[in-house]
Amino acid sequence: MQQKLEQIKSEALAAIQTADTPEGIEALRVKYLGKKGEITSILKQMGGLSAEERPVIGALANEIRTALEDTLAKKDAEIEALVLQQRLIAESLDVTEPGAEIKFGRQHPMSIVLDEVKDIFIGMGFQIAEGPEVELSLYGFDRLNSPITHPSREWTDTFYITEDESVHLRSHTSPVQIRVMEAQKPPLRIISPGRAYRKDEVDASHSPMFHQIEGLVVDRGVTMGDLKGTLNLLASKLFGESTKTRFRPHHFPFTEPSCEVDVQCVVCGGTGCRTCKYEGWLELLGAGMVHPKVLSGCGIDPDVYSGFAFGAGIERMAMLRFGIDDMRLLFENDMRLLGQF
Ligand code: PHE
Repeated sequence: MQQKLEQIKSEALAAIQTADTPEGIEALRVKYLGKKGEITSILKQMGGLSAEERPVIGALANEIRTALEDTLAKKDAEIEALVLQQRLIAESLDVTEPGAEIKFGRQHPMSIVLDEVKDIFIGMGFQIAEGPEVELSLYGFDRLNSPITHPSREWTDTFYITEDESVHLRSHTSPVQIRVMEAQKPPLRIISPGRAYRKDEVDASHSPMFHQIEGLVVDRGVTMGDLKGTLNLLASKLFGESTKTRFRPHHFPFTEPSCEVDVQCVVCGGTGCRTCKYEGWLELLGAGMVHPKVLSGCGIDPDVYSGFAFGAGIERMAMLRFGIDDMRLLFENDMRLLGQF
C-alpha cells in the first residue's frame, strides 16, 4: 500500500506539472483528492491494515495529500498569473499608434457658389424667397406674360403634371417673382434659388433637373442702370474684380427690354478658346426690366413702379467659377472631383 501511495504521488506530481489550465488543475484535484479520488480510496481501505501499519500509512497518506494540495495551489497560482499575462498582452492598447483617419466632408461646388451668390445679394439688402417646384401654369407662364403659343409651353419642353396643362414642374424660377409681387408691396428686393425642370437630354451642358437663381427688384425709379450695376457687381465678386461683362439684346415675354449677360471667358480671358467656342465670351444669365403687364397683373402700378429681374443657372455659374467643363460632373458625386474644392 505504501508503494501504491508513492506511485500515486509521483504520478500526480508529474501530471500537475504538465497541467496548463485552471480546468486541468481542478480535474487533477478531483482525480486525486476528491471524494472518489485515488488518495481518498486508499484511506478508505485502511480498515484492512494491521494496528502497526495503520498509523504509518495514515501519516504517509496525509503527507502526500498535503504535498499534492500545496503543489496544486502553487501550479494554480502560476497558471492564473500566466492567463492574466496573456490577457494583458492580447488586450494591450498602443496609445502611440496613429488613429483611424476621420474623413471630413466638404461643400459641394454648387453649394459654394450658391452661398457666395447669396452673400453678395444679402450684402445688397436682398431677401431670400422660395416657391414651389410643382407650379401652376398660371404663375409659371400666364402671369409671366408668356403667350399660349410660346415654345416653352410645349409638352416636348415642359413636364406637365396634369392633362389640362394647368400644373407643371416649373421650367424656371421666374414664377417666384409673381408669387412675391402678389404677396408683398414694393419696395421689393429678393433672390430665389431652387430647382427647375426641362425636357432636355443629358449632355455636357444640359440636365432635365437643374438649378436657377432668380432676382427681382421693384421700386420707384428702378432703371436698366441699376440692373447693369447689380449684375456687374455679381460678376466681379464671383469671377474677379477685372471681369468684363457684355449685355446683349434678347427676348423674354416677362421683361422689356430683355438681355442676356455674358462674362469674358474665365478660361482664356477673352482671346478665344474651346470653352468659349473662340468667342471670348460666356453666357451667364438672362435679365431685363420687368414687363409693365407683369407688374400690373400683380396689382403693382407700372406708372409708379419699375423693376428689373434676372435668372441665372447655378450649375453654369459653378462651372464657370471652377472651370468645370461638363455639367454631369456636378451630379455624379465623384470624390476625385468633389475633393478638389
Ligand atoms: N426665366 C428666364 C430663363 O429661365 C431667365 C430670366 C429671368 C430672364 C428673369 C429675364 C428675367 O431663361
